[in-house]
Amino acid sequence: MSPFLLTRTLPEDATDAALRADVLKGLTSTPKTLPPKWFYDAQGSELFEKITELPEYYPTRAEREILVGRAGEIAAATGARTLVELGSGSSEKTRYVIDALTGLHTYVPVDVSESALTQAGQALAGERPGLDVHALIADFTGGLVLPQTPGPRLVAFLGGTIGNLLPAERAAFLASVRALLSPGDALLLGTDLVKDERVLVEAYDDAAGVTAAFNKNVLTVINRELGADFDPGAFEHVALWDADHEWIEMRLRSRTAQTVKVPALDLAVHFAAGEEMRTEVSAKFRRDGVRAELAAAGLELAHWWTDGADRFALSLSVAR
Ligand code: SAH
Ligand code: TRP
Repeated sequence: MSPFLLTRTLPEDATDAALRADVLKGLTSTPKTLPPKWFYDAQGSELFEKITELPEYYPTRAEREILVGRAGEIAAATGARTLVELGSGSSEKTRYVIDALTGLHTYVPVDVSESALTQAGQALAGERPGLDVHALIADFTGGLVLPQTPGPRLVAFLGGTIGNLLPAERAAFLASVRALLSPGDALLLGTDLVKDERVLVEAYDDAAGVTAAFNKNVLTVINRELGADFDPGAFEHVALWDADHEWIEMRLRSRTAQTVKVPALDLAVHFAAGEEMRTEVSAKFRRDGVRAELAAAGLELAHWWTDGADRFALSLSVAR
C-alpha cells in the first residue's frame, strides 16, 4: 500500500458560503441559472459515472481509445514525475497515463467531490506500490496551491470538462494552469469536438434518463444544503445545441407556474410555466480554436490526437 493523503484546501464553511452566493446570484438573475460545480455531491458523482457508460455518451469511450493508443507517447514526451489531474472524478482513464509514466513519483488528483477522490485515491494507492497519491479537495477555478513535488510536472484535464467553463472563464482557467507550470512542463487536455447535432444532443439527453436525473440532482443538493423545497419532478430536463456558441446547453424547465422557497437565503423564487433555467454548458471545439486558446495562455500545442471517428481530441501542449 502506498501513501494516500487527502487534503481539504478549503474549510467546509467556505464551500457553504460559495454555494449560497452562487445560488443567490443564479436564482435572482434573468434568465435564472444554477452553477454546475454543485452537481457533484456523492449522488452526482455516481450518476456521472453511469453517464460515462451510456450508449449515447461517446466522449468517455473516445477519449479512452486515444489514451490507450497514445499513453506511451505522452510518457515519452513529458517524462513527468508529478501528474496533477483536475476534475479527476474516478481517475479511471488516467490509469493508462499513470502506467506509462515509469518515473512517476506523485499523483495529485484534484476534485470538489470528496467521495470520488476518496474512492479513486484509495484504489490507486492500493494498486500502485511506490506511487504517492496526494488528493486535494479543491476548486480548480480558484487559486490552487499544489504540494511541493519533483518535476517535470504534467497537468491533465480530461473528459471535456473544460467545455463546462464559459469562454471568459476558460481563458482565466488556462492562464491559472500555465501559472502552475514551469517552462517545459505540459498540459494534457481532453476536448470534445463539434459534430452532427443529433449525436451531440443524444449524448446529453439519453433514452434511459440518466442525464436528466443528473441535471435535476443539483436541485436535491440545494434542498439539502439550503433547506429549499424544489420538487425535481416539477422540472423537465432540456438539452439543446447552440450553433452560434458551439455548445450544448442544459436547462431545467418548470412544468408549471410555481414558487420555490430557499430558507437559508430568505428567498422565494417564482417560476413561470415553461420558464427555463440554465444549469450547464458543454462547449465543443475545433483544433484551431484550441490552439489559439492555449497560445493565449502561454501554452504551445505540441500534439493533437483524435479517436478513429474524429469525435474527441486529446492535446498535449508545452509551457513556454
Ligand atoms: N475526469 C473524469 C470526470 C469528469 S466529470 C472523466 O473524464 O471521466 C467532471 C469532474 O470535475 C467531476 O468529478 C467533478 O466533481 C469535478 N469538478 C467539477 N467542477 C469542479 C471544480 N470547479 N473544481 C474541482 N473539480 C470540479
Ligand atoms: N464534462 C461532462 C461533459 O460536458 C459533464 C457532463 C456530461 C454533464 N453530461 C452532463 C454536465 C449532463 C451536465 C449535465 O460532457
